[in-house]
Parts: sequence; structure tokens; C-alpha cells
Amino acid sequence: MFSIGHVTVDSPLVLAPMAGISDQPFRLINRSLGCRFAFTEMISARSLVCNNKTTIKMLSSPAEDRPLGVQIVSADSEIIKRALDILSNYPFDIIDFNAACPVNKVVSTGEGAGLLREPAKLQKLMRVMVDHAGKPVTVKIRSGWDEASVNAADIALRAQDAGVKGLFIHGRTRAQGYSGRVDYAIIGKVKKCLTIPVVASGDALSPQLIRKMFDETGCDAVAVARGALGNPWIFRETIEYLEKGLPPPRPHVHEIAETMKRHLALLVRFLGETTGVIRFRKFFGWYVKGMAVKHLKVMAFRSDTQDEMLRLIGEMGTVPSYCPHVDRDV
Ligand SMILES: Cc1cc2nc3c(=O)[nH]c(=O)nc-3n(C[C@H](O)[C@H](O)[C@H](O)COP(=O)(O)O)c2cc1C
Repeated sequence: MFSIGHVTVDSPLVLAPMAGISDQPFRLINRSLGCRFAFTEMISARSLVCNNKTTIKMLSSPAEDRPLGVQIVSADSEIIKRALDILSNYPFDIIDFNAACPVNKVVSTGEGAGLLREPAKLQKLMRVMVDHAGKPVTVKIRSGWDEASVNAADIALRAQDAGVKGLFIHGRTRAQGYSGRVDYAIIGKVKKCLTIPVVASGDALSPQLIRKMFDETGCDAVAVARGALGNPWIFRETIEYLEKGLPPPRPHVHEIAETMKRHLALLVRFLGETTGVIRFRKFFGWYVKGMAVKHLKVMAFRSDTQDEMLRLIGEMGTVPSYCPHVDRDV
């Protein structure tokens, strides 16, 4: 259990924001298997202000999708204020500010992880967020821009000083992207500097690695990202592992198939059949990771109807016993 401002979450696990992934169906599937707190995909504040249709759709969430955080990215205080004004019409519990995105298109405009190179500007923007959000504000950072400029502790103190209520830290530099191992030491250092809660991110790929993150850093909660791709069971299994210390059994192939069907149905309802099925293709690949079903995966990537996808999922039941997701640990 941990709290961010007045928002209390009865689990130390968070579903991390993932652009192109953390849509409403993905969040609901993870919630059905133990996730208690989720984030939307990263939202461009500028697209929101421009009333971009795709962006507006990203904001929709049913009542069972709570508590829910929304994450925005921008480096412009006026745009941030206007975006916050729009967000005040939505029932988000927390508003997170992205200072972590490593993508060239984002950092080249000074946004996302680009702000780690401008600590004073980032602090000013966080103050704007805190003053105008009307809700608890958090910030997501990386350990620094590159190995030569690891400044997470300084940025974290600035965030706390600006009134931010919780800090998310991905323990890699922007230069690392998603490669290499997470730096537990820098997360532990940041945790020691702060009084606000610290949510750690990086290599949260299995219950064992999540436990390691808690042990090595003393963090208040862990954000699960790639570990939940095709593997919503990570929430249920990690809670059990943290309580009992024994590796929980992996889901049976029939449970995986039933979950895939539910996920597909949610996507089709949310996006319509064509777009929903296309979005499900990559999830099919993630769900069957570790299974000897390469032929089904290849067909799934060509499939464009719900019936065809359901037929392929149905064929999974004929696969001989296997150990799914064996290579999740790094
Ligand atoms: C496909 C993908 C999209 C992501 N999008 C976002 C995002 O929109 N906002 C964000 O703060 N982090 C984003 N992340 C970073 C994750 O939230 C997380 O910090 C990172 O993957 C490290 O955790 P992991 O090693 O356990 O995956 C993304 C990661 C992935 C793999």
C-alpha cells in the first residue's frame, strides 16, 4: 500500500504508462488480474489543446478503471495550463508530468527526457503543474541524460520542492533508452533524498525482479511496464510472491487463451473491429511468447477479423505443454 497525495493505492504495484500500449482495454485486462493503479499512455499536451481526436479518445475510461493517472508531455507552460484546464473535466486521480521519454522526436523539441538537461526549466514547469492541476501531481524522470550527467537526485529534490507528490524514476539514462540493466543504486539514492513516495521503474519483468527492486532501492512502489506485455498475471503473481516468497505457478494455456479472447473483445469494442484486431496482433505475439506456436503468430500478424483471430486463439489449446514466458528474467 502507498499514497500519493490523498490517493491511496492498496498495492505497491503500478501499471506504468506505455505509449501505444496503455489503452483502456490493456488497463482493464491488467486490472482484472490484480493491477490496482494504472496510467494512460503519454498524452501530448499540445495535441490535447488542438482537440486531436485520437488524443481525446485516450482520455476515456469507465468507472472500473480507477484509480487512474494521466501522463502529459510538454515543455511549454502556457500549453500545460490549457491542457490542465481540459483535463479538469475528466476524473483522473493523478496527473503525471513526463520528463523521461527518450524518443528523438520528443527530446528534439526539449520535451520528455530533454528537460533533464534543463533542471531549472523543469522545476518551473513542475510548479506550473502543481499550481494548475487541482489534483496530486507526480513526475517521471530518468537517472539522467547520459552516463556523464546523472542528475536524478538533484532533479528529484527540485520536484519535491516544487510541490510534486510522488516521483517515478526509470533507472536508466536517456542515452541508454531501454538497453542495459537498470541502475538500482541511483534509485536508492533518490529514495534516500526524498520524503515523497518514490515509484521505481526498470526491468520489472518478473515477481523476482520486482522483489529485487524493492530490496535494492527501498522504493515505495514499483511500476510494471514491459513485464505486463502479454502477461497481466504479473500483478497477481507478484503480490503472491511478495507475501509468500514462493514462485507462483504460471497460468495454464487455457487461462491464457481466455484472457486473450477477453482482451481482443475489449479492443474491438473500444476501437472497432479492424483497428482493434490490428492492435491485438502485437499482443498475440506477446501472449504466446515461449510457446511453440510460431505458425499461429505468423497468421495472427496477417489476420484482420475478430473471427479469424478467435480461431487462431482456439488452436492454442492443441499445443503441447510448455513453460510460458520463460525468458522474462534479465
Ligand atoms: C512501448 C513502450 C512505451 C513506453 N511509453 C512510455 C510513456 O508513454 N511514458 C513513460 O513515462 N514511459 C514510457 N515507457 C517506459 C516505461 O514506463 C518504463 O519506465 C520502462 O519500460 C522501464 O521499465 P521496464 O524495464 O520494466 O519495462 C514506455 C516503455 C515501452 C516499452
